[in-house]
Amino acid sequence: MTTHTTASASTHASPRPIPADFRLGVATAAYQIEGATHRDGRADSIWDAFCRIPGAVVGGDSGERACEHYDRYRDDVALMRELGVQVYRFSTSWARVQPDGRTANATGLDFYSRLVDDLLDAGITPWLTLYHWDLPQALQDAGGWPARDTALRFADYAADVHAVLGDRVTNWTSLNEPWCSAFLGYLSGEHAPGIQNPQASLDAAHHLLLGHGLATQRLRALDPALSLGITLNMTVADPVDPQDADDVDAARRIDAQHNRLFLDPIFRGAYPADLLADLDARGLHLPVLDGDLATIATPIDALGINYYHGDAVSARPPAEAPLSSAAPSERVKLSPFPAGEGIFTHPRGLPVTAMEWEVQPEGLTRLLVRIDEEYARPAGVTLYVTENGAAYTDEVGPDGSVDDVERAEFLRLHLDAILDAIEQGVNVKGYFYWSLMDNFEWAWGYDKRFGLVRVDYETQVRTVKASGRLYQAAIAARSVPP
Ligand code: NOJ
Repeated sequence: MTTHTTASASTHASPRPIPADFRLGVATAAYQIEGATHRDGRADSIWDAFCRIPGAVVGGDSGERACEHYDRYRDDVALMRELGVQVYRFSTSWARVQPDGRTANATGLDFYSRLVDDLLDAGITPWLTLYHWDLPQALQDAGGWPARDTALRFADYAADVHAVLGDRVTNWTSLNEPWCSAFLGYLSGEHAPGIQNPQASLDAAHHLLLGHGLATQRLRALDPALSLGITLNMTVADPVDPQDADDVDAARRIDAQHNRLFLDPIFRGAYPADLLADLDARGLHLPVLDGDLATIATPIDALGINYYHGDAVSARPPAEAPLSSAAPSERVKLSPFPAGEGIFTHPRGLPVTAMEWEVQPEGLTRLLVRIDEEYARPAGVTLYVTENGAAYTDEVGPDGSVDDVERAEFLRLHLDAILDAIEQGVNVKGYFYWSLMDNFEWAWGYDKRFGLVRVDYETQVRTVKASGRLYQAAIAARSVPP
């Protein structure tokens, strides 16, 4: 696996202050850390089933054991307290809360209740995501996200979680990265449930958005004081040659299918006209019924942005070999989308992570400025960077230590990029590093490590890496080091 040293682009000579009201946190997700996949009433999610398909996940890995967080959550909360994180983004497992996708499981819910109590005792604010990809398999058997009924079921699930945690959790995120759920799950098939069907992927995208809208309405009715939002993975698509009309159109299509497909209905109550035309030309559609778009546009308070890197795109293949071993999500992003044929990503010579994702912090600044101006600010919505992080091939020293200078530098550069956006007036109020600890990286299994904390999967020993210490120091000093 190729890794390069991250070039330092940061120029400040002294520590750069972080605004007092900006919250620093870490993120995880249920299936990636919990393990205990069949304890206390939890039933299969689509990921449990997907992991059993030979060849679906690198190494035949699964989340069956993962970080054993279900049993070790107290230690993990203690670790977060040691690092000084202010806010913790985690997800509830739908398959644990409603094993059959319909009926609440009190024992499963109790786990999250204990976790939230522990977080609050540690002075850490819980930031709850309802859907981070683990649909109950029973609902997939009934049609999954391409079926409209799943959106209705999602709102009921949200209400069941709220009934137990609503007295202590204020920040609620409906979906994490619905782009991945729809297009990696139902188009490329590289994520659960492993289906490859263009129209089904668009049905899924619409019903995910509808589920978001219905859940937002339900939670708002239960408690108007909650802070409600959604987390989207977004890219910054730049044409390789800004003078070339085909390259410019490639960038437009990537922006449409990756960003505006979700942003426009949420913030403007309409799908982008150019995207609809692209789909129509291919005999594809979004299954919109009367009233759906108004539901999807139900006002929110927070928009979570997951940013890893941007893309330089062209209508022509690059002269040099493309990023052939790029992550599954990277491969699919740039071509098999129903309206995305003939789009190629060109490496820019930037340093890359172990995912072969380019390290491009200035893209985060540009993305924040744009989303704030065009969508969030006019709607009175606050931005949060709900994910950002890097996988590297960590080397473990004889004493178990991990001197991950590249990840530490990645973190520093992206905090700087956010401060740049704040200086330009962007209303962004938090950052969550992905991830607190190494965990199950979906189709990559345990092969890719994003953690600030190393997990030895044999012994389950956690060791804070140098990047974790850098973050700890930045949080304590409330500044980004030079
Ligand atoms: C996106 C997802 O939300 C998360 O689950 C994943 O592990 C990271 N980004 C890294 O790929």
